[in-house]
Amino acid sequence: MQSLLLEGSSDHIAAMATTSALLHHAFGHLWTGFYRVVEPGVRMIVGPYQGSLGCLEIMFGRGVCGTAAAERHTVVVADVHDFPGHITCDPRSRSEIVVPVFDATGAVVAVLDIDSSVPAAFDDEDRAGLEALVAWFARTPYVPVPA
Ligand code: SME
Repeated sequence: MQSLLLEGSSDHIAAMATTSALLHHAFGHLWTGFYRVVEPGVRMIVGPYQGSLGCLEIMFGRGVCGTAAAERHTVVVADVHDFPGHITCDPRSRSEIVVPVFDATGAVVAVLDIDSSVPAAFDDEDRAGLEALVAWFARTPYVPVPA
Protein backbone atom coordinates (compact mmCIF):
# COMPACT_ATOMS: atom_id res chain seq x y z
CA MET A 1 0.00 0.00 0.00
CA GLN A 2 2.67 2.51 1.07
CA SER A 3 4.87 1.75 -1.96
CA LEU A 4 1.86 2.28 -4.22
CA LEU A 5 1.04 5.60 -2.54
CA LEU A 6 4.65 6.77 -2.81
CA GLU A 7 5.25 5.55 -6.34
CA GLY A 8 7.18 8.09 -8.36
CA SER A 9 8.03 10.25 -5.33
CA SER A 10 11.44 10.70 -3.74
CA ASP A 11 10.40 13.46 -1.32
CA HIS A 12 11.01 12.42 2.28
CA ILE A 13 8.55 14.89 3.81
CA ALA A 14 5.76 13.75 1.48
CA ALA A 15 6.62 10.17 2.40
CA MET A 16 6.56 10.94 6.14
CA ALA A 17 3.21 12.71 5.85
CA THR A 18 1.72 9.88 3.79
CA THR A 19 3.11 7.18 6.08
CA SER A 20 1.82 8.99 9.21
CA ALA A 21 -1.67 9.35 7.75
CA LEU A 22 -1.76 5.74 6.59
CA LEU A 23 -0.65 4.28 9.93
CA HIS A 24 -2.65 6.67 12.09
CA HIS A 25 -5.96 6.00 10.42
CA ALA A 26 -5.29 2.27 10.03
CA PHE A 27 -4.45 1.67 13.71
CA GLY A 28 -6.08 4.58 15.55
CA HIS A 29 -3.37 5.07 18.18
CA LEU A 30 -2.94 8.43 19.93
CA TRP A 31 0.01 9.77 17.99
CA THR A 32 1.75 8.65 14.81
CA GLY A 33 4.59 10.54 13.25
CA PHE A 34 8.17 11.53 12.80
CA TYR A 35 10.89 13.52 14.53
CA ARG A 36 13.40 14.71 11.91
CA VAL A 37 17.10 15.01 12.68
CA VAL A 38 18.15 18.65 12.28
CA GLU A 39 21.57 18.35 14.00
CA PRO A 40 22.99 14.86 13.49
CA GLY A 41 23.59 13.15 16.81
CA VAL A 42 22.14 16.12 18.70
CA ARG A 43 18.61 17.32 17.99
CA MET A 44 15.32 16.39 16.28
CA ILE A 45 12.24 18.47 15.39
CA VAL A 46 8.68 17.19 15.21
CA GLY A 47 6.77 16.50 12.03
CA PRO A 48 5.04 15.42 9.94
CA TYR A 49 2.59 13.74 12.33
CA GLN A 50 -1.06 12.91 13.03
CA GLY A 51 -2.88 12.83 16.37
CA SER A 52 -2.66 14.80 19.60
CA LEU A 53 0.02 17.48 20.13
CA GLY A 54 3.65 16.35 20.32
CA CYS A 55 6.55 18.22 21.89
CA LEU A 56 8.47 20.32 19.38
CA GLU A 57 12.03 19.11 19.91
CA ILE A 58 13.72 16.01 21.27
CA MET A 59 17.45 15.71 21.92
CA PHE A 60 19.36 12.53 21.04
CA GLY A 61 19.47 10.29 24.10
CA ARG A 62 16.32 11.82 25.67
CA GLY A 63 13.06 9.88 26.02
CA VAL A 64 12.15 6.90 23.89
CA CYS A 65 12.59 8.79 20.61
CA GLY A 66 16.02 10.11 21.53
CA THR A 67 17.11 6.68 22.72
CA ALA A 68 16.09 4.98 19.46
CA ALA A 69 17.90 7.69 17.47
CA ALA A 70 21.08 7.54 19.56
CA GLU A 71 21.22 3.73 19.68
CA ARG A 72 20.10 3.25 16.06
CA HIS A 73 17.61 0.51 16.85
CA THR A 74 13.87 0.12 17.42
CA VAL A 75 12.64 0.61 20.99
CA VAL A 76 9.37 -1.01 22.10
CA VAL A 77 8.03 0.18 25.46
CA ALA A 78 5.20 -1.89 26.93
CA ASP A 79 4.60 0.54 29.82
CA VAL A 80 5.89 4.10 29.51
CA HIS A 81 5.92 4.42 33.32
CA ASP A 82 8.73 1.85 33.37
CA PHE A 83 10.91 3.81 30.91
CA PRO A 84 13.14 6.28 32.78
CA GLY A 85 13.10 9.67 31.07
CA HIS A 86 9.97 9.01 29.01
CA ILE A 87 8.72 12.31 27.60
CA THR A 88 5.03 12.74 28.37
CA CYS A 89 3.23 14.78 25.71
CA ASP A 90 -0.17 13.14 26.19
CA PRO A 91 -1.00 11.77 29.66
CA ARG A 92 -3.14 9.05 28.05
CA SER A 93 -0.06 7.47 26.48
CA ARG A 94 0.67 4.02 27.97
CA SER A 95 2.92 2.24 25.44
CA GLU A 96 4.91 3.09 22.35
CA ILE A 97 7.23 1.99 19.58
CA VAL A 98 9.97 4.11 18.04
CA VAL A 99 11.76 3.03 14.84
CA PRO A 100 14.88 4.80 13.56
CA VAL A 101 14.77 5.94 9.93
CA PHE A 102 17.98 5.58 7.91
CA ASP A 103 18.79 7.23 4.60
CA ALA A 104 20.81 5.79 1.73
CA THR A 105 24.10 6.56 3.53
CA GLY A 106 23.05 4.74 6.72
CA ALA A 107 22.64 7.96 8.71
CA VAL A 108 19.69 8.28 11.12
CA VAL A 109 17.58 11.02 9.53
CA ALA A 110 14.43 10.68 11.66
CA VAL A 111 12.49 8.39 13.97
CA LEU A 112 8.97 7.06 13.49
CA ASP A 113 7.08 7.23 16.82
CA ILE A 114 3.69 5.63 17.56
CA ASP A 115 2.12 6.23 20.98
CA SER A 116 -0.87 4.26 22.25
CA SER A 117 -3.34 4.57 25.11
CA VAL A 118 -3.38 0.75 25.24
CA PRO A 119 -0.72 -0.90 27.44
CA ALA A 120 1.71 -3.18 25.54
CA ALA A 121 0.10 -2.33 22.20
CA PHE A 122 3.19 -3.23 20.13
CA ASP A 123 4.98 -6.51 19.49
CA ASP A 124 7.62 -8.01 17.21
CA GLU A 125 5.21 -8.15 14.30
CA ASP A 126 4.72 -4.37 14.56
CA ARG A 127 8.46 -3.88 14.82
CA ALA A 128 9.10 -5.92 11.67
CA GLY A 129 6.28 -4.25 9.73
CA LEU A 130 7.30 -0.72 10.67
CA GLU A 131 10.98 -1.36 9.98
CA ALA A 132 9.96 -2.61 6.52
CA LEU A 133 7.90 0.57 5.97
CA VAL A 134 10.71 2.95 6.92
CA ALA A 135 13.13 1.02 4.69
CA TRP A 136 11.57 3.14 1.91
CA PHE A 137 13.63 6.11 3.17
CA ALA A 138 16.92 4.27 2.57
CA ARG A 139 16.20 4.19 -1.16
CA THR A 140 16.44 7.93 -1.75
CA PRO A 141 18.77 10.69 -0.56
CA TYR A 142 17.55 12.78 2.37
CA VAL A 143 17.35 16.53 1.79
CA PRO A 144 17.26 18.11 5.27
CA VAL A 145 14.77 20.88 5.98
CA PRO A 146 16.64 23.81 7.59
CA ALA A 147 15.96 24.09 11.36
N1 SME B 1 7.00 9.31 23.73
C1 SME B 1 8.03 10.07 23.22
C2 SME B 1 7.62 11.49 23.03
C3 SME B 1 6.24 11.53 22.52
S1 SME B 1 5.80 12.77 21.64
O1 SME B 1 6.27 14.05 21.84
C4 SME B 1 4.57 12.57 20.67
C5 SME B 1 9.34 9.89 23.92
O2 SME B 1 9.44 9.66 25.15
O3 SME B 1 10.30 9.95 23.21
